Amino acid sequence: MTTRILGIETSCDETAASVIEEGTTILSNIVASQNELHAKYGGIYPEMASRAHIEIIDTIIAQALSEAHVSLNDISAIAVTRGPGLVGSLLVGINTAKGIALGANLPLLGINHLEGHIYSLWLSEYNEEVEFPIIVLIVSGGHTEMLLMKNHMEYERLGGTLDDAAGEAFDKIGRLLGLPYPGGPHLEQASLNGNSSQFDFPRVWLDNSWDFSFSGLKTAVVREIQQRFPEVNMGRSAESVDLPVADIAASFQSALVEVLQEKVVQASVKYNAKCIFVTGGVSANTFLQNAIIERAGKLPVYFPPKHLCTDNAAMIASAGFRRFETGHYDNITIDAKPTWPLGI
Ligand code: KG4
Ligand code: ZN
Repeated sequence: MTTRILGIETSCDETAASVIEEGTTILSNIVASQNELHAKYGGIYPEMASRAHIEIIDTIIAQALSEAHVSLNDISAIAVTRGPGLVGSLLVGINTAKGIALGANLPLLGINHLEGHIYSLWLSEYNEEVEFPIIVLIVSGGHTEMLLMKNHMEYERLGGTLDDAAGEAFDKIGRLLGLPYPGGPHLEQASLNGNSSQFDFPRVWLDNSWDFSFSGLKTAVVREIQQRFPEVNMGRSAESVDLPVADIAASFQSALVEVLQEKVVQASVKYNAKCIFVTGGVSANTFLQNAIIERAGKLPVYFPPKHLCTDNAAMIASAGFRRFETGHYDNITIDAKPTWPLGI
């Protein structure tokens, strides 16, 4: 029988559902973003995120099934994000998945969101050919994690951010520069016209560790702006002063990317990795992609297709497929795991 997984993702501010077939073929991939809702606050408002998920989740799942031209009778299992994420948002997805699993008598698979980001890479053409071990770098709005992937579903956590996640740093600096939310893609766009050597922002290396720290970089950018452009301090928004947005964006991006690029390649050498995987929202950044490919030399570096870098349910279904194949089913009583490290 053909294996089809219905994936559901509500860990943050995207309500998403997807049907995938045999682990790699996406039959549907519906993502409803709450970006507009949260844009007016410049960040995610958890209570509003949960409410927005509740309002739309049934429609999104119905749409995913209908676009895939399947009914629940054609589905083999339900995969849902169990954590990490916002507890209220996670519960909306989990409770909906439980209801469907019980009603349709289907197995339930509780998926780690980070594992989902990793398995977005198996939704690409090279999927089955990769060899282990793999160095994985997950860079998103909520996470910056470096892992050694020894085999399917087998991870060792090497390090992660001690403070801000890479995407969070992009979003905070974007907001400071008066760019729309989320800052990451807009900051990348702004950087295209900028000079990355204009400002010498700090690179925090944390020697002898695979951890990262980006709060110092963020503070350095804030200080630079306040010292050179005190008008920003006087309650005026970045748009109304003559801020060199492009140069600051390019210099900030360059500092952050240099650390990621260097550490991920050093880890791949140390652990004799066969390739590097970079995934999560920030992995959509072209500057980051080119920098890591260049620094890695002959070692292959893979990124998910751009539309699968940010949160989606196809990646949850993809990880679900792997767990389904190996019989890693979950009990219907599973709860949300707002904090759930991978590989510890
Ligand atoms: O993976 P994701 O959708 O959500 C989390 O799991 O956190 O990642 C969203 C993050 C946001 O911080 C967003 O600004 C960032 O990914 N992002 C980017 C780019 N596209 C999305 N950051 C830098 N450059 C981009 N092109
Ligand atoms: Zn994510």
